[in-house]
Amino acid sequence: MMNDVDDLSSTTPGASSGNVDPCAELRGKRILLGVTGGIAAYKAAELTRLLLKSGARVQVVMTGAAMRFVTPVTFQALSGEPVCTDLWDAGVGNNMAHINLSRDADAILVAPASADFLAKAAHGLADDLLSTLVLARECPLLAAPAMNRQMWENPATQRNAQSLRADGVELLGPACGEQACGESGAGRMLEAQEILEALIAFFQPKVLAKKKLLITAGPTFEAIDPVRGITNLSSGKMGYALARAASEAGAEVTLVSGPTALAAPPGVLRIDVVSAAQMYEEVMRRAQDSEIFIAVAAVADYRPAHPASEKLKKDEREGVPPLIELQLNPDILAEVAALPRPPFCVGFAAESRNLAEYAARKREAKKIPLIVGNLIQDGLGGENNALTLFDAAGAHPLPPGPKIALARALVAHIAKLLS
Ligand code: CTP
Repeated sequence: MMNDVDDLSSTTPGASSGNVDPCAELRGKRILLGVTGGIAAYKAAELTRLLLKSGARVQVVMTGAAMRFVTPVTFQALSGEPVCTDLWDAGVGNNMAHINLSRDADAILVAPASADFLAKAAHGLADDLLSTLVLARECPLLAAPAMNRQMWENPATQRNAQSLRADGVELLGPACGEQACGESGAGRMLEAQEILEALIAFFQPKVLAKKKLLITAGPTFEAIDPVRGITNLSSGKMGYALARAASEAGAEVTLVSGPTALAAPPGVLRIDVVSAAQMYEEVMRRAQDSEIFIAVAAVADYRPAHPASEKLKKDEREGVPPLIELQLNPDILAEVAALPRPPFCVGFAAESRNLAEYAARKREAKKIPLIVGNLIQDGLGGENNALTLFDAAGAHPLPPGPKIALARALVAHIAKLLS
């Protein structure tokens, strides 16, 4: 019996407002924002604002070239802190600004990162404040390259980017698209919001490090004829958010996806399928090698028993509506849970009513340790959701919030149950 209700809002970081906090991992973090010379320097002003709004503390350091594009006053006004620009600033007590600044930071984020900055950082050059404190750092370094496409593609820059990655530096982007110089290609800096999201992802605790995780998402499509079929309104957003959250938490994620318009999250291997039968095949091929299986897909319970190979014609039927004979699809989750050495199985129950009762019943029927319930009116197709987790200890409602924030809370709960 499930009568123990444990409200995770009391343990979900930053959830005191009653909502899951999408920026929990940034609150109180000290970010040293390095701004180098490039037209994208103006986007760093917006990034400063977003970082502060997310609860981070921001110390801006600008290079001489950056100050030709934007003035330090802009960043001082936004961050509320004096901007550091000079390696030889006599105002700093022991004249060791580079050591003090890099020791005070939880992460150094350089955005925009010019080709010159990447080259210096890759080779350990230290001839201005930013390059010197980067060399002296003990904290992680993230950089968002921004430059003309030819400069980015130049083998020298590619070599530098490669060395930086090998040294553990996290490169964010660059994106492809129109450039300030009028050309088009790879080299644009990511948008401020994308950089913020990458930073939040970077700070996620690695609670599923190296775990092999298999996940299904999206709807399935069951063909009636070559152009028609039975499907449902699942957008795939919750499943994709979970794949992303699991990958951020360090898991090796394989996502078996029904038809959706979504892009695979970075680092996630996506296998595209159409029907429940194909999803079943792809899942069963990998399930035994997986440590965690999360079934988020809205799998059609039935499929047409005899799909037509040619398009059905209405005039051939003389106005008589066709009867479509249906046949049961395999229950993928139940079959995985019944394997001799099953992965840790998590199911979803999307219901329109009686959530607790139906979810508990499904958990027992499918013999799985954890089921995630939601009311379809709270989440279908949208960016937000409200979830309740049902496990052996009882029901745990998560505060409502963006799907990615809920996905991170669910990943934390799975990690807790696994440990
Ligand atoms: N599921 C599955 N394979 C199916 C049907 C469902 O893997 N053929 C999984 C879903 O991904 C979800 C869970 O089982 O994690 C519950 O799915 P749902 O369709 O809500 O449950 P059903 O058992 O089909 O019950 P009903 O349709 O009656 O609500």
